[in-house]
Amino acid sequence: MYRTKIGGIGKYIPETVVSNNDLKEYMDTSDEWIQERTGIKERRYAKKHEETTTTMGAEAAKVAIERAGIDKEDIDFIIFATLSPDYYFPGCGVLVQRELGMTKTEVGALDIRNQCSGFVYGLSIADQFIKTGMYKNILFVCSEMHSMGLDFRTEGRGVTVIFGDGAAAVVLQRAEKDDQGILTTHLHSDGTHAEELAMINPGSHGGHHLGKEKFGFPDENKFGGLFVTQKMVDDHMLAPNMTGQLVFKNAVTKFPEVIKEALDATGLKGDDIDMFIPHQANLRISQFVQKRLGLPDDKVYNNIQKYGNTTAASIPIAMCEAWEEGKIKDGDLVCVAAFGSGFTWGSALMRW
Ligand code: UT7
Repeated sequence: MYRTKIGGIGKYIPETVVSNNDLKEYMDTSDEWIQERTGIKERRYAKKHEETTTTMGAEAAKVAIERAGIDKEDIDFIIFATLSPDYYFPGCGVLVQRELGMTKTEVGALDIRNQCSGFVYGLSIADQFIKTGMYKNILFVCSEMHSMGLDFRTEGRGVTVIFGDGAAAVVLQRAEKDDQGILTTHLHSDGTHAEELAMINPGSHGGHHLGKEKFGFPDENKFGGLFVTQKMVDDHMLAPNMTGQLVFKNAVTKFPEVIKEALDATGLKGDDIDMFIPHQANLRISQFVQKRLGLPDDKVYNNIQKYGNTTAASIPIAMCEAWEEGKIKDGDLVCVAAFGSGFTWGSALMRW
């Protein structure tokens, strides 16, 4: 068995800065409310009609590939995590392959849909392929363009103010040293509350889990016609919804549990962690978990203040930034953990 290391990491942050006050133009909100409840000061939005989830992911991927010291033709597998893809199908994996001009090698491209846990899930998948020797250089891209799918009315403020756009990518490779690389990964899910943090439409459910009446699905077409209905458009039902307090309550329980699981599996302790990078969902959640782990401020990296919640991209953007700032060094024990829609959650420990 081989060990998997992060051989290169890159990020792409779109240029347009959107402050909390900028959002006041569209909805009844305030800088004070947003900062107090979430820690967010501003977020970035991609350029409409010019940038997409794929193009941002490709920019991040170019940096990761260069930093890994390989050529794009050396990549033997692609993984892409996003909840805001360019198309309903095909996924962004093949689109980023085309965008990077990697079609010659015809390598496999896998899309994963694990929302906030996307990075931890993708890391674990890539680890299994590298460990067994099946692949040597996996390009793993995480990118989100939330701004195109949010409800900018006051009705949508509980969700919209939290999210931002951005991308990051890693190249996962065989580690040369025995004491380097991913030590353990832990993945979980519980679909009980699937609809409590979800974008339900468009979809094939036809009201099945949700009550046909409530969503007013028409029956005029015997076979189909429910994927996108006029009612969904008229009633602004094509946007994500979230029961924030339920998600918060579950997150602060599951984060510490799944981190403990990773520490127990490796015989390490909270004290051994040199850098903890939580999914950037809410600064209050990160601070709660930090306290539970007993970690000082310099061992936790948060950047939600600048970028908001970038879902699958949040951990690798933070990891890239921490590394660029010299806060992650060779030999450091890095812990990542995430919780979100599904619910799905997970953790990983790696020696940098
Ligand atoms: O990455 C995905 C995982 N997601 C999460 O982990 C999110 C977890 N949840 C949270 O972070 C928090 O629940 C939120 C930040 C989303 C919301 O904070 P909260 O303290 O739970 O607020 P709330 O939803 O209970 O709303 C409290 C009040 C409500 O008004 P009333 O009913 O008390 O009059 C909301 O309508 O705040 C109102 N409100 C807002 N006011 C100003 C909700 N959103 C806003 C807003 N600006 N943007």
